[in-house]
Amino acid sequence: MMPQTSRRVLVANWKMNKTCVQAIDFLEAFIPQLPSLPTDVEIVIAAPFTALAAMRGRLGVDHRIKLGAQNVHPQPSGAYTGEISIPMLQELGVTHVIVGHSERRLYSHETDADINAKTRVLLAADLTPIVAVGESSDERDASHTIDRVVSQTRGALYGLIPDAVARTILAYEPIWAIGTGRNCAVADAAAAMAAIRGAVDGLAEVPILYGGSMKPENVREYLAARDINGGLVGGAALAPESFAEMIRHAA
Ligand code: PGA
Repeated sequence: MMPQTSRRVLVANWKMNKTCVQAIDFLEAFIPQLPSLPTDVEIVIAAPFTALAAMRGRLGVDHRIKLGAQNVHPQPSGAYTGEISIPMLQELGVTHVIVGHSERRLYSHETDADINAKTRVLLAADLTPIVAVGESSDERDASHTIDRVVSQTRGALYGLIPDAVARTILAYEPIWAIGTGRNCAVADAAAAMAAIRGAVDGLAEVPILYGGSMKPENVREYLAARDINGGLVGGAALAPESFAEMIRHAA
């Protein structure tokens, strides 16, 4: 059997939610709960770019809560109106960046090659890419789930040596389960995640997160599966009580 990681990682993906003030309100309610939460769950909040500086100010350096971004441009600077670069994120203490989220693949037409370029520069800068893959409902109905997630994983990690691959985090998010309340059955998610783990050398001990309508009521069930090491959480991570409850159940 392949080695498995015992790491537990919960990532809040706030998407296009929360102003600066709302982000700080979240932290003021969430931080006091930290002492009662299990210490072995890694906590990342992927906030909108505009909230990151204020959050960094509140958290300071070396806080248990790690700051994440939801996207990045692969170039370090230049004529790319509206984009954000790695040095800009590093200055704000960002340690993790989501790449390849299905909403960016859909609305911003990001390709596997774009995601690969971002993943490479993030790793070169010592940031952790959280690489999201997942099939559409049509692909699932046509029994293409495994082919799809394996090809997305290979595309995102193309050309990386296993030591670099080992510094990533992967997220399996069936598109039809995102924000819909329609959960993927744990056994189906675990099967897709085992296929992802086997897709590329270096993934054996990488945390693979499930995403798609994960909430306090179902997190324990997902994390009981051998190949599921955490969650990428949208809606249920917007309220501090709900996100804290999920971390409590994740240990
Ligand atoms: P959801 O979103 O938890 O609201 O389904 C997850 C995601 O898109 O990362």
